[in-house]
Amino acid sequence: MSNKPVIIFEGIEGSGKSHHISNVAKYLKKKKLKFIKIREPGGSLNSEKIRKLILNKKSDFNKITDLLLYLASRSENIKQLKKHYKKKIILIDRFVDSTIAYQHYGFGVNIKLIKFLNDFLLKDFKVDYTFLNIVSKKNMINRLKLRKSLNRYDKFNSKFYENVQRGFLLIANKKKRKYKIINSNLDIKLNQNIIIKKINTLL
Ligand code: TMP
Repeated sequence: MSNKPVIIFEGIEGSGKSHHISNVAKYLKKKKLKFIKIREPGGSLNSEKIRKLILNKKSDFNKITDLLLYLASRSENIKQLKKHYKKKIILIDRFVDSTIAYQHYGFGVNIKLIKFLNDFLLKDFKVDYTFLNIVSKKNMINRLKLRKSLNRYDKFNSKFYENVQRGFLLIANKKKRKYKIINSNLDIKLNQNIIIKKINTLL
């Protein structure tokens, strides 16, 4: 394992992943370690433009257009990511697993097509470790209610998010060594400590 790993934070809306990635960034900064942190969709200037387009509440693209837009956003990031690959720690808020979980397990897009396009974009760029944040159905409903009008995806029902979360878990369970499942129903400070402890073993 490289000491400049690529670390991903995944999970459905309201699962706490963005809080945890920010906390890790703060920790690395304190330790004066070089890192970059991006989110997907988004990250680079062009990707942020695509993010606005995809997540705009007025957009109603079909599911294949959606897939291609997420991949277009990734395509705009990949050059920058490859530039820093193995030179800096890379933290990403959502990546390839989100595409499989949302577009395949959520929307039913052909998984082979998704994998083919991702492999084409990523080539030798490899993820080292993923923190998957999960929430109980009850907390999922409560947290989604709080987020109601944030983006186009926030209006999907809890069944959709259950399918997406199940998808994330299927992916993680296939490669247990490379995933840590973070139970977001537990105390946030406790989870912060679990994550930082694991981060220290990755560096
Ligand atoms: P977030 O960045 O605020 O979590 O929201 C991004 C939304 O984009 C979220 O609903 C998940 C969705 N998404 C996909 O459907 N496929 C993808 O490949 C990615 C990266 C995100």
